[in-house]
Amino acid sequence: MADRSPFETDMLTLTRYVMEKGRQAKGTGELTQLLNSMLTAIKAISSAVRKAGLAHLYGIAGTVNVTGDEVKKLDVLSNALVINMLQSSYSTCVLVSEENKEAIITAKERRGKYVVCFDPLDGSSNIDCLASIGTIFAIYRKVSAWAGLSHLLHVALCCGQGVQWRMALGEFVLVEKDVKIKKKGKIFSLNEGYAKYFDAATTEYVQKKKFPEDGSAPYGARYVGSMVADVHRTLVYGGIFLYPANQKSPKGKLRLLYECNPVAYIIEQAGGLATTGTQPVLDVKPESIHQRVPLILGSPDDVQEYLACVQKNQAGR
Ligand code: AHM
Ligand code: MG
Repeated sequence: MADRSPFETDMLTLTRYVMEKGRQAKGTGELTQLLNSMLTAIKAISSAVRKAGLAHLYGIAGTVNVTGDEVKKLDVLSNALVINMLQSSYSTCVLVSEENKEAIITAKERRGKYVVCFDPLDGSSNIDCLASIGTIFAIYRKVSAWAGLSHLLHVALCCGQGVQWRMALGEFVLVEKDVKIKKKGKIFSLNEGYAKYFDAATTEYVQKKKFPEDGSAPYGARYVGSMVADVHRTLVYGGIFLYPANQKSPKGKLRLLYECNPVAYIIEQAGGLATTGTQPVLDVKPESIHQRVPLILGSPDDVQEYLACVQKNQAGR
């Protein structure tokens, strides 16, 4: 699986990779500068997360963010780190953060050509119990996009050329390239505590996974409650992750620009599917910066099976 050992002397680090690709593309260096700044922010966040107990960073900051979630001290710190690193990279013009109501416009003298949308620390309800949390970001410039997902020691980075995996060793080191998701998995992942509010399609799909009609083994259930961890596992093991619309959250919970789009891009580059239930996530035209959409993603056969339930239930209405 791994094509390079982190103990080789010729280590391909992410910084080196980004610089090499930038040179090959004969670019201006702006994207290289941006990605390196983002990686520095991610490493600083990772370091803060690991010493949060000693540094008294656990607990809440005493406010709620734009989408009504309680803000934790680590959310505030992570947001400040990303904003600071990106603005001083001279490569961004607009930043959209889960933690800021309005888009942040970079000062004219530091402005570059990229828009970056990010969730500085996804899965913050898991901070105090030491479960996986991470930074999600998407970089937009006209029609091209990069997307990234980090959780503690891993970075999945995607630049329209397939997914590449990196593991920290002080630096991020290439461990696997062109990752492909399994055609079909054996795991389903959603918050089943909301079963009371599920729509008919989700109820039927979950039932099929637990009580297969063809006599096959039921799927395993896994749900960390940090999207970065649940999506990472889905990418590695295959299967399906769902945060569908439900009666209580009619548009789902997760936000299009900085949660759904980046992971949808990574999963699609790996050969998987990411849908809202009615259209591919990446086809949704954003109407507002904190817009929510339902998110169902994973192995293509599993997502298709979910979509078949959606269609069947629509036809039956
Ligand atoms: P956050 O950005 O406030 O951390 O919320 C997003 C998180 C996702 O990581 C996760 O998939 C989801 O919320 C879990 O929500 P729920 O507790 O409703 O299952
Ligand atoms: Mg989030």
